[in-house]
Amino acid sequence: MRKRLSLVGLLGAAVLGLSVLGTPALAEPDTAAGQTAQGSRLTDVIPAPVEAKPNANRDFRLSPGTVIRVQPGSQKARQTGEYLAALLRKSTGYRLPVVASHYGGPSAISLVIGRTDRVGDQGYQLDVNRSGVTIRANTGDGLFSGVQTLRQLFPADIEGGQQKWRKWTVAGGSIVDYPRFAYRSAMLDLARHFHTLDEVKAYVDEIAQYKINYLHLHLADDQGWRIQIDSWPKLAPVGGGPGTGVDGVGGGYLSKADYAELNAYAASRHVTIVPEIDMPGHTNAAQSTYAELNCDGKAPPPRTDIEVGYSSLCIGSEITYKFVEDVIRELAAMTPGPYLHIGGDEAHATTPEDYAKFEARVIPMVAKYGKKLQGWHEIAKVNPPTTAVPQFWDTDGEDAATAAAAARGNKVLLSPANKSYLDMKYDENTKLGLKWAGYIEVKDAYEWNPATALKGVGESSILGVEAPLWSETLRTLDDVEFMAFPRLTGIAELGWSPQATHNWENYRDRLAKQAPRWVHQGINFYRSPQVDWK
Ligand code: ACM
Repeated sequence: MRKRLSLVGLLGAAVLGLSVLGTPALAEPDTAAGQTAQGSRLTDVIPAPVEAKPNANRDFRLSPGTVIRVQPGSQKARQTGEYLAALLRKSTGYRLPVVASHYGGPSAISLVIGRTDRVGDQGYQLDVNRSGVTIRANTGDGLFSGVQTLRQLFPADIEGGQQKWRKWTVAGGSIVDYPRFAYRSAMLDLARHFHTLDEVKAYVDEIAQYKINYLHLHLADDQGWRIQIDSWPKLAPVGGGPGTGVDGVGGGYLSKADYAELNAYAASRHVTIVPEIDMPGHTNAAQSTYAELNCDGKAPPPRTDIEVGYSSLCIGSEITYKFVEDVIRELAAMTPGPYLHIGGDEAHATTPEDYAKFEARVIPMVAKYGKKLQGWHEIAKVNPPTTAVPQFWDTDGEDAATAAAAARGNKVLLSPANKSYLDMKYDENTKLGLKWAGYIEVKDAYEWNPATALKGVGESSILGVEAPLWSETLRTLDDVEFMAFPRLTGIAELGWSPQATHNWENYRDRLAKQAPRWVHQGINFYRSPQVDWK
């Protein structure tokens, strides 16, 4: 079912918008107040900040003499300062030295970590006045989020790769900002088509600018196995070898060195990698590589079609559990983040009794190797411990087992396929993607409320939201970007911004202003007719 903005919703948004100080939604109608001479405004940010108070007398202009001043003794502030400097130098050509000092001369961007009220461990406060910009946060994560906001407050040309002579002005005023949900995620499917280390790094950069802080990697499925596992050495080179993408196209895998490099890179962008090995179904790549993983001891042929639900590990066989434990142990050891995702969806070739037997043995392995468990919402049926995170992916807004898990205390990750699946076509003309969960236009991806998306799972039971991108039809980074942009930003906003700022008209205006940034960044995006692109 496609959602439409109801009259009640509109009225509610208007009332809330008016009652929240400085929300981008409605506090700033079409007046020039708070707008720099170049037309950028303090409120032109995605995700919408909690509170933004423009002050037109306090615009800041970056100059060749500006310094980036970072909290003395803070490695995190230094790293974020260097990141910001690299970003700004490219297009301005200014030196922008990063100095660890409390004093920085007459023009400075200051990054301060210290006690900052109201913003929690991911938020920040940003103040712009004529002599500089100050970003304050309690943590490195908060500071990095503040820098992403500042980046959007500069003219779009700041994203250009080449030096340009122009005024680099930031609209004056102050922002107080922090996330609605601590967990905001994107997912890439490397199994159906492999995406290289460089492509995944590029995607990390793209999602991080919208304050998405987790990247879930779907690393194994029927078609391909995409991560090196030393104790089962053929998995990656054979199960992920040439021709293992859908339709026999492509192939490849991440070596342990690649994976380590990716995790380090993601950490530098304040993104945590969540690896997934899907089981007990979606396992043909492993079973076609190792005959002993099949009940009849025979390896089925590799498959590169897009059927689902036909494979199952052999539930009654001990070697299955040796295999699973080896994989979980190695994957846990190479993953710095706290989570490990064990799939569990669409196990149509496994009986419910076998599914329960399998999960009863596998679920404890994740904690044994020091990780927190995530699984698709089907795992809720087997009463996992309350530390487990079921990820809801269905389309009908209802799942009794997930609601029961939430009632027991489990936190739920929301990725309803008919709202947040970035591989669904925008409309009947979209060449890429699938349509089993319906067409998802930009407005559909934005126009929902996580707190009411799943019956029996309210705000306090929600860990966060995710935008998965399955890659049956997606081969290149250009393909990935075309499906992700501009819907990913809507999911990012749902995860970060307070419901009080939710307003389609305001959002689509801010979205339009992102387009020149994407053009500069080389991001391939869908020019939805629902948005008046700049
Ligand atoms: C899924 O879409 N089968 C998780």
